[in-house]
Amino acid sequence: MKTVPLGTDGCQVSALCLGTMYFGTTVEDSVSFQILDAYAEAGGTFLDTANKYASWVAGGQGGESELLLGRWIKERRNRERLFLASKVGLPMPGVPKGLKAVVIEQECEKTLRRLGVDRLDLYYAHADDREAPFEETLGAFDRLQRAGKVRYFGASNFETQRLDEARRLSARQSWPAYVCVQMRHTYLHCNPRVPLEFTAQMAVTPELLDYCKAENVRLLAYSPLLGGAYCRGDRPLPEAYRGPENERRLKRLSEMARACGATVNQVVLAWLMQSQPAAIPVVSASSPGQIRENLGALSVNIKLNMESSSYDDQS
Ligand SMILES: NC(=O)c1ccc[n+]([C@@H]2O[C@H](COP(=O)([O-])OP(=O)(O)OC[C@H]3O[C@@H](n4cnc5c(N)ncnc54)[C@H](OP(=O)(O)O)[C@@H]3O)[C@@H](O)[C@H]2O)c1
Repeated sequence: MKTVPLGTDGCQVSALCLGTMYFGTTVEDSVSFQILDAYAEAGGTFLDTANKYASWVAGGQGGESELLLGRWIKERRNRERLFLASKVGLPMPGVPKGLKAVVIEQECEKTLRRLGVDRLDLYYAHADDREAPFEETLGAFDRLQRAGKVRYFGASNFETQRLDEARRLSARQSWPAYVCVQMRHTYLHCNPRVPLEFTAQMAVTPELLDYCKAENVRLLAYSPLLGGAYCRGDRPLPEAYRGPENERRLKRLSEMARACGATVNQVVLAWLMQSQPAAIPVVSASSPGQIRENLGALSVNIKLNMESSSYDDQS
């Protein structure tokens, strides 16, 4: 699979990341294994999980996705071929919200145990915590890196200014800096005045896109397919993605799909990977057929000349 840089020290990661949020809960084990196998067979190595996945599902406690990945990694004996990302900072049963050092240190150990590995490749602050000083959070991340438990750090659901403040502090203190930021991002624009279903979630903003370009911070786009809403009658568009401007964008999307001989989902993913700044979609699937369709986006060239720019385009 095509790879793209993460950070500035030569690290390369898969251009398409597989989200595993519901693996081991609503997506049963055997199907999760099939999806993971299909992604790995396509050369994909970048897997996204979190300590919290999926504690909100009926009967869920959190940790199910990491445990499922741990079982798959053990069975396939493929740890060294993978780039494993997890997250800390959102509440789940027995774990408070936030980025206090003690929570980070305890949760990192639990995540490593559930995955059955001794090192994470990427560890995200799952959401900003204005109550924990950056010094405390970044100091804890520094200790994890020095102990060889984590290679890189990322931020998720952060405002641009806070991300910048944190990165400046890391540079001053020689602590690991956030090399990437994971936000809600898709082809349709998210109306910032309409609340999202999950309150911790934040959509990308024009300021953040500029920041990522200027500062070489890699952008990861979560929920890129809006849970299937681009193509499924049973999945209405979330309210924040409705309105006349998005109607125009949906039309444009259908035209691009026809011109490229691709599905609308593939064009959305290809557009994210090919626009500026290029994003890594964190896409999921609940069946092997879905992941195969989504992987097809890697060979779609959407001819960016059809699309003038990434966010401001009003066509
Ligand atoms: N950082 C954060 O705060 C945050 C928040 C949310 C998600 N994430 C990460 O992002 C990943 C993806 O998030 P997501 O699941 O919300 O996003 P998504 O990729 O937009 O949606 C995935 C869902 O869309 C449907 N789908 C996928 N491919 C399809 C296809 N080809 N045709 C029709 N339907 C299709 C499936 O729904 P059905 O299951 O109903 O079939 C699938 O479960 C997660 O796994 C997680 O790793 C991060």
